[in-house]
Amino acid sequence: MQIPTSQPYPNYFDTADGFVIHSPAKVNLSLRVLHKRSDGYHELDTFFQELDWGDEIKFQASNSFVLEIDGPELPKDDRNLITRAAKALSRAAGHPLAGYLHLSKMIPMQGGLGGGSSNASITLLGLNRLWGLNWPKDRLLPIAAELGADCPFFLFGGLAHATGRGDAIKPLRGALKGTLVLLFPGFGVETTSVFAEVKFPLTEVEKNVIFSPLVWTEEGGAYLQVYPCNDLENIVFRRNPFLKSGRDRLIELGAQVALLSGSGSTLYGVFDSDGAAIEAANKLSCVGDFRVKVCRAVARKR
Ligand code: C5P
Repeated sequence: MQIPTSQPYPNYFDTADGFVIHSPAKVNLSLRVLHKRSDGYHELDTFFQELDWGDEIKFQASNSFVLEIDGPELPKDDRNLITRAAKALSRAAGHPLAGYLHLSKMIPMQGGLGGGSSNASITLLGLNRLWGLNWPKDRLLPIAAELGADCPFFLFGGLAHATGRGDAIKPLRGALKGTLVLLFPGFGVETTSVFAEVKFPLTEVEKNVIFSPLVWTEEGGAYLQVYPCNDLENIVFRRNPFLKSGRDRLIELGAQVALLSGSGSTLYGVFDSDGAAIEAANKLSCVGDFRVKVCRAVARKR
């Protein structure tokens, strides 16, 4: 078996007047909620997987800080994680808050795909370069963790195992095998409200798959098996049976695995081949308000 060739993270593209960084979406290949912590957060055990699809942020030198956004109407003030990330790095580095940033937004909001967290960490990486700080990622990590539990993952991308609040990251080689179909239902789910409904012991999550070597990664010479499950699914499906029917439909259409990503609202199915995924996506794009995207997992150089 051959591990796919991988590039360093993130993807930088130099332009005439600055550079662009791809700000990827993620899915959770498995998400176990272990217990409630004394800080109010939940202890997690999860695998994050970067996708080859997402937003883009353009960075240009400028004397003041300007954020422009293509796509949905989003706040540009402190409610936006890009602005919060820029201010946090400026404070930590003692560097003036400066730079022209242009976000092209594709990742749906409150979709469980980590869009805001990805934008925050890509902002840290981009301003680190724009301001010539050249800080190693380890120095950016505490700033990312402060911005949100999912943010540290987006400093590393690729495949990673995460514990703690989801912020203790172990980057891994390799990536999920197969082609993914993302199914976004046209509405978001608020993460805080889902975690607020978690009650222990958790109801056993319905098993829709057999154990399979889901992920191409070498740990001690063996390929890692990730058991696909999401402990938040029952809560989200109880609220939105529509989402459960989307998950069932992905399986009917031939997905080896179908799961909710994070706290939702996006579902994804993993298919054997691009052809099978595209065929399923074509059928799904005719159903209700679902928005569909075919994409692949990304492996990163470690
Ligand atoms: O860290 P972030 O702001 O992204 O988390 C959003 C919310 O999700 C938190 O305020 C918390 O209610 C919940 N959460 C949690 N346990 C985690 C991650 C998030 O309870 N490990």
